[in-house]
Amino acid sequence: MTTEERRMDYLKTLFGLDGRVAVVTGGASGLGAAFSRGLAAAGATIVVADINEELANEVVASIRSGGGEAEFRRVDVTDVAAVEAFADDVVEGHGHVDVLINSAGAAHRSPIEEFSEDAYDRILALNLKGTYFMSQAIGRKMLAQGKGSIVNIASIGGFIAYPHSSAYLCSKGGVVQATKSFALEWYGRVRVNAIAPGLVDSPLLQKVLAASGSTSTTDFIQHRMLGPLLQPDDMVSAAIFLAGDGASRVTGHTLAVDDGYLAQ
Ligand SMILES: NC(=O)c1ccc[n+]([C@@H]2O[C@H](COP(=O)([O-])OP(=O)(O)OC[C@H]3O[C@@H](n4cnc5c(N)ncnc54)[C@H](O)[C@@H]3O)[C@@H](O)[C@H]2O)c1
Repeated sequence: MTTEERRMDYLKTLFGLDGRVAVVTGGASGLGAAFSRGLAAAGATIVVADINEELANEVVASIRSGGGEAEFRRVDVTDVAAVEAFADDVVEGHGHVDVLINSAGAAHRSPIEEFSEDAYDRILALNLKGTYFMSQAIGRKMLAQGKGSIVNIASIGGFIAYPHSSAYLCSKGGVVQATKSFALEWYGRVRVNAIAPGLVDSPLLQKVLAASGSTSTTDFIQHRMLGPLLQPDDMVSAAIFLAGDGASRVTGHTLAVDDGYLAQ
């Protein structure tokens, strides 16, 4: 074996995902699409779990054209019965499920005094309940296998507040706490961690900016940013690390990938 081959083997033991099946919720767009492509490049077979079939199929096609393996399965993460059926289907189709990335999420801007019950329910259902029950359903499969790794996508908004995003901030604080509680209960069997991105240039962010040019939320965050906007690809190496065996003693942790934002 050459030195180069030994190096590659060593890196693979830490970061390689060969033979793993990884579910990526929200995998059709933004951060989720980057996680899907990145984990596929690290060797995983990707199940893109989303409600946007058109975008999901584009992600699947791009992974396959690069020699990776991927498929799309439609699932609305806010529908617990559908989520349980989805988990059954994944294990029936692949025999096992090794990694779950919970990236499906959305934001809604409004001052607190005008925040509607509908918008509140929608954001909490997608960002927190969706993460919780997808983790429960896939986690049950992982517990039966005795092994698995879940990576939740929280936010810097799980730690700090900014204007006109109260329901989003509540949901992401909840994701940080869900990460700890799942990790504790499932210690030694399933690892559960999270990533807290800073402001990332994604369709979600573009939608917010297009609606109003800028918002009190983005103005507030951008005012304190140390560098340029983050890109979805900037999130990928953290997800590969947390998903893989290199992080075998890391659980219950939320890793900020925020270009130093929370350090201030
Ligand atoms: N963009 C940012 O600045 C930023 C910052 C911090 C955290 N995040 C988090 O990253 C995650 C991804 O955000 P993004 O910016 O990539 O957004 P995005 O809008 O680009 O992607 C969200 C994806 O979730 C899917 N989705 C929506 N509802 C769904 C449902 N009910 N079931 C299944 N899939 C559903 C959408 O179809 C879409 O593919 C979210 O949890 C978001 O809160 C984003």
